[in-house]
Amino acid sequence: MTPDNEFGIGQVGLGSITGAHREGYRIYDQPVVAGFDPNPEARARFAAEEPGAAVYDTLEALLADPRVGVVDVATPHHRDTRLPVVEQIAAAGTPMLIQKPLAYSYADAVEMANAVDRAGVTAMVNQNMCFVPGSLRLIDALMKDRVVGVPSFAEVTVRYVFDLPNHPWFGKDDRWWTGALTVHHFGLLQLLFGPPETVYAVTGRDVSQPGVTVDGYGHLLLRYPNGMNIAIVSTGTYYGTDPMPHGNEKIWVQGPEGLVDWRPEEGLAISRRTDAGIDVSRIEWDRERRWFPDAFGLTMAHFRQALAAGETPLCSIDDNLHVSALIEAAYRSSAENRVVPLAEIMGDRWNPDYGTGWSHGFGRWAPPVVAGVPA
Ligand SMILES: NC(=O)c1ccc[n+]([C@@H]2O[C@H](COP(=O)([O-])OP(=O)(O)OC[C@H]3O[C@@H](n4cnc5c(N)ncnc54)[C@H](O)[C@@H]3O)[C@@H](O)[C@H]2O)c1
Repeated sequence: MTPDNEFGIGQVGLGSITGAHREGYRIYDQPVVAGFDPNPEARARFAAEEPGAAVYDTLEALLADPRVGVVDVATPHHRDTRLPVVEQIAAAGTPMLIQKPLAYSYADAVEMANAVDRAGVTAMVNQNMCFVPGSLRLIDALMKDRVVGVPSFAEVTVRYVFDLPNHPWFGKDDRWWTGALTVHHFGLLQLLFGPPETVYAVTGRDVSQPGVTVDGYGHLLLRYPNGMNIAIVSTGTYYGTDPMPHGNEKIWVQGPEGLVDWRPEEGLAISRRTDAGIDVSRIEWDRERRWFPDAFGLTMAHFRQALAAGETPLCSIDDNLHVSALIEAAYRSSAENRVVPLAEIMGDRWNPDYGTGWSHGFGRWAPPVVAGVPA
């Protein structure tokens, strides 16, 4: 059996985001062999799109299909639609990729990590921003080529209007912006810099925004054990004239040897001080390769290649507990107007010497070379 058919993909939860998953899987040759959703309409949409795949109306039946070697979990991240699903897949001994955010709360995330650890299965969280083609260039520049040296400061800016008046649950649960949207950036920051030691956050909403009834923005200051600092400005309430939308947000990172400016759809610039002034060089990539749908295909390709190689994937569920803790700390910080240490959330799991997410996963992974897709 080749690694490809050993890890056939069974999709669980066949809602709106899984169309982008499948589009990415088709580009990067990731084989979908089965799907399950309790909703017959979702099953019918899946069957029409994937005529070669089996369609199941129970999770037991999907897990019993011998072609399913990895489960793609995309049920809503509410406790009742996530935790029992993850527990059942873990008990069946099947590896799984779980859509971000892992959970609404740190306590729920720990329960899932414990279920996965007890069963001894491999689980990765679908922090797809880490696998956006442009993000892979940023990761190479900072982690492999060390173009800024040891990073000392980074700034993340995301500002656009994201409104969902007709969506049944997005923006309407207890938590929204920081937990469900800025989590993309937390995932990438965890990979690049590891967990912060403390967070100070302000979260809030624009009362005139019709579709978001809870937090519509969350701005944070993060301090790291090695002295690095990060400022994050992140909002879905901005309808002004100078947007920096999700998908083309701006990150810049500074270190003693240089400064990187990056946007996923606008390339990467490295600025360095020289005796003659500031020297600027650029790294480019095919701008047709974007977050949607490429990152979804590349995330699954990474996970399946890690499984085939017997390696821990990047963004593993244990690594991702730091991201869940950061979310929890941010909401607590804002509610109580104080700096919150991650140790307060993580207890014995907090390790100030943890290092980067990169150092805890399959960092020597190389994206698959696919016909028609420039490397
Ligand atoms: N860029 C991204 O990575 C991205 C974008 C959108 C959504 N998401 C995440 O993906 C998840 C799903 O979002 P969505 O927009 O597809 O939601 P959705 O509401 O459109 O779809 C969810 C599907 O899960 C099914 N479901 C519910 N309970 C189930 C169960 N116990 N077992 C199997 N299926 C079950 C529902 O019937 C529905 O078809 C959420 O956690 C969301 O945050 C990620």
